[in-house]
Amino acid sequence: MKHDAGGREEVRIMKALVYKGPGKKAVEDRPKPEISAPTDAIVKIIKTTICGTDLHILKGDVPTCAPGRILGHEGVGVVDQVGAAVTAFNPGDHVIISCISSCGKCDYCRRGMYSHCVNGGWILGNKIDGTQAEYVRIPFADTSLYRIPTGSEEDALVMLSDILPTGFECGVLNGKVEPGSTVAIVGAGPIGLAALLTAQFYSPARVIMVDMDDNRLQISARFGATDIINNKDGKAVEKIMKMTNGRGVDTAIEAVGVPASFITCEDIVAPGGIIANIGVHGVKADLHLERLWDRNIAITTRLVDTVTTPMLLKTVQSHRIDPKQLITHHFKLDNILDAYETFGAAAKTNALKVLIEA
Ligand SMILES: NC(=O)c1ccc[n+]([C@@H]2O[C@H](COP(=O)([O-])OP(=O)(O)OC[C@H]3O[C@@H](n4cnc5c(N)ncnc54)[C@H](O)[C@@H]3O)[C@@H](O)[C@H]2O)c1
Ligand SMILES: [Zn+2]
Ligand SMILES: [Zn+2]
Repeated sequence: MKHDAGGREEVRIMKALVYKGPGKKAVEDRPKPEISAPTDAIVKIIKTTICGTDLHILKGDVPTCAPGRILGHEGVGVVDQVGAAVTAFNPGDHVIISCISSCGKCDYCRRGMYSHCVNGGWILGNKIDGTQAEYVRIPFADTSLYRIPTGSEEDALVMLSDILPTGFECGVLNGKVEPGSTVAIVGAGPIGLAALLTAQFYSPARVIMVDMDDNRLQISARFGATDIINNKDGKAVEKIMKMTNGRGVDTAIEAVGVPASFITCEDIVAPGGIIANIGVHGVKADLHLERLWDRNIAITTRLVDTVTTPMLLKTVQSHRIDPKQLITHHFKLDNILDAYETFGAAAKTNALKVLIEA
C-alpha cells in the first residue's frame, strides 16, 4: 500500500455498484475518482441508499444513463479532497450530497431552479458516476454539497439528498398545502411518506393516504395521516368524495408515476384545488379537460431542485421531523446486491429506504 505525503494510506481502487445495461448490475473494483475541474470535490462516502429511480435505470427506462455508470445520487460523506476553486469546504468536512448538481451561476440556478442547471442538474449516478461507491467526485462542490453540523445523526441526513426535498418541493410546496386544507397523497412509498411528513409543517386539517400496500398505509397512520385508504378495490375516489361531502381535496399529490394514480388525482381535486405531480411517468396519462375545464384547478410538475435542503436540515436538527423513521434496513457496501434485492421486493420485505454503509 502506497502512502501520500501526509502518511495516509493512498487508496487507488474502490468498490462500486455498476450499471451493466438493462437488467444487469455488478459490484466492481474501480479507480478512485480524481479532481477533474477546480470546482470539484472528492467525497468519501459514509452512507448511501437506493432510490426507486435506480430501479428505473436498471429496467432500461433512463437512456441518459449508459452501461458502465456507477449508480446512486444520495449520500452523506466526508470531504477527501477539494479542487483549487472550492472555497466553502475543506477536507474533513462532513457533508450531505445533493442529488442535483448546480453550478450556481447559470440562468436556471440564479432562479433557484437547480434541477435545470445547464451545467449540472440530475447528473449524479446518471450522466456521471454516482454515490454507490467508496468515493464520488462531486462537481460544483460549493453549491452541490451541504455541511452537516457537528453532532448530527448522519444516518437520517441521507434522506435529505433526494426524498425529503422531493416530497416537500414537488408535493407540498407546489401543492400549496395550507392550514386547515384537505390533502390526499396517492402513493405511500418513500416519496409519498416524505410528502406526508413535510405537509404537516403547514397543519392541514386532513391528510388522506392512498396505496395498495397495507404495511405502507399502517406506517402512514403512524406518520400522521388522518385517513388511510387501500385502493385494491379501486374505490379510493368514491371513498374520498364521500369523506369530503362530494367536494374533493384542495391538494392532490401524485407520488406513484403511473396513469391510474394521476387520474385518481384528477377525480378527487376540489374546485380551486391543485394536482401536484411528483411521479416520474414513462407513458402518457389522460387529462380529462372535459371534466376539469371549469373547476379552477392547477396542475404542477417538478423535478426536485433541492433548494429547500438547508431549511429541511434545520427541521431535522430541531426534531420537527425524524426522517430516520424511513430507514428499514441496513447493509454494508460489500452486500449492496442484497440491498437491491431487499429494496426491489418492497412488497415482501416491507422495505422503505435501505441504508448502505461504505
Ligand atoms: N419529481 C422528482 O423529482 C422525483 C424525484 C424522486 C422520485 N420521483 C418519483 O416519485 C415516485 C414515487 O417514488 P417512491 O420511491 O416513493 O416509489 P415507490 O414505488 O416505492 O412507491 C409508490 C407507491 O405507490 C403505490 N401505488 C402503485 N399504484 C398505485 C395506485 N394506482 N394508487 C395508489 N397507490 C399506488 C405502490 O404500492 C407504492 O407503495 C416515483 O415515480 C419516483 O420515480 C420523482
Ligand atoms: Zn432519487
Ligand atoms: Zn447552473
